[in-house]
Order: sequence, then structure tokens, then C-alpha cells
Amino acid sequence: METNNTTINVMPRIGDIAPSFTAKTTQGQINFPSDYKGKWKILFSHPADFTPVCTSEFMTFGSMAEEFEKLNTQLVGLSVDGLYSHIAWLRTIKEKIDWKGMKNMEIMFPLIEDITMDVAKKYGMIQPGESTTSAVRAVFFIDPHDIIRTIMYYPLSLGRNFDEIKRVLIGLQTADNFGVALPADWRPGDEVIVPPAGSCGVAKERMQNTDDLHCYDWFFCTKKLSKEAVEEKLGK
Ligand code: BEZ
Repeated sequence: METNNTTINVMPRIGDIAPSFTAKTTQGQINFPSDYKGKWKILFSHPADFTPVCTSEFMTFGSMAEEFEKLNTQLVGLSVDGLYSHIAWLRTIKEKIDWKGMKNMEIMFPLIEDITMDVAKKYGMIQPGESTTSAVRAVFFIDPHDIIRTIMYYPLSLGRNFDEIKRVLIGLQTADNFGVALPADWRPGDEVIVPPAGSCGVAKERMQNTDDLHCYDWFFCTKKLSKEAVEEKLGK
């Protein structure tokens, strides 16, 4: 939408179809999300190449690449930098940076060049109160049906928690695969929440069932779901 020389971008929301785009990346041209049919996608932005927080984040994501692959998930990065800057930065990371025991780190997932900010604007990654020229640290979790399922935004000065990014992905996949909800701080192996009782009869039954349900009250019942069952289903 264009008003008085100001472009207003409607930010995508949870439940929306992921906006599509074609872009140049460090792994060649991509059509997003259609190139990744049947996969989960994590589309994330960082403010700039050759900056320390971003370097630490890329090394961490790079070190976890195999874990995300096992979770049928494609990582795709973006910043408002050109392709040659991206290539030079990724080469520097591989050849020179030794951080927290990570070194010789080759980043194999695509990093989008977005000098025009077209993609960043489509995804609400440019947040002018923080910066008008760089993307904030956004993370979009997009499911195999191309629906946005979770969105995270971090400011420029704070590196993301990659353990939490992986936990969210596993949580979304577990909720989908087992038809359950997940309580605060859930991790694989913890009890999961069964869907709410839809009738008085079911509510009563739940409170009487002491075998496989743990009901704190009729509306809040959990059941066991082993770590092994989660790992087997998610292909870990
Ligand atoms: C960084 O990645 O180190 C960074 C980038 C932009 C602003 C502040 C820090």
C-alpha cells in the first residue's frame, strides 16, 4: 500500500500463507516457498554481513544444519546485502573464524541477497524504529503447506536462542503429528496436553480416568508421550 510516499507493508501473521518470491542466493536462484515442497522452512533475517552477532548466529545455525535437516526443515537466510558480500562473508567464516569450538564452518543453506529490501518488506523484517536500512532478526517457521506457524522478532543487539528455535520447530511438529498441545517449557519426553473436553460427559469421564490421563481439572489434562515416540515420528 502506498500513502504519501510511504510504503506500508502489511506484516504477515501466524496462519497466513507465506508470501512468495524469487531471489538470488549463495546457492543460486530460489523460488520461495515452492522450491521446498513438502518441507518445513525456517526463513530468517539478520541485519548485516561482517558483523559479530550475525557471525555468531550463522556459525551456530551452521553447526546445527544436520539437526534441522533431520527434522525435514530447510533453512533460508536473508540480509540487505549483495551477493558478493554474502559470498565473501561466508568464506571468511569458513576460513578464519574460530568461535566457541566452531571452526571451518561451511554454510550450505541459501543466503538471500536483498539490496532492494523487497523480500524483507514482504515479511515485515524492516522495522523502522529499529533500523530503516537493515532487517531485524526475524524468524518465520513455515509448515509443509506453506502456512506461517510461528514468528519471532529479535532486535539488532541480541543474538537469538537457537536451542529455542529448535524447540519451537519440534513443538510444532509434535503438536501436528500427535494432535496435542504443549505446556510451558515443554521438551520431548515431558507430558503433553490432550484436547479440551467437548462435553460434560467427556469432562466427567476425564476426571474419573486415572490410568493414562493426569487431570489437574476437567479442562487441563495431560498424558505421557515418550521422547522416543516423538523422535521416531519426527525422524530424528
Ligand atoms: C551484529 O550482528 O553484531 C550487529 C548487527 C547490527 C547491529 C548491531 C550488531
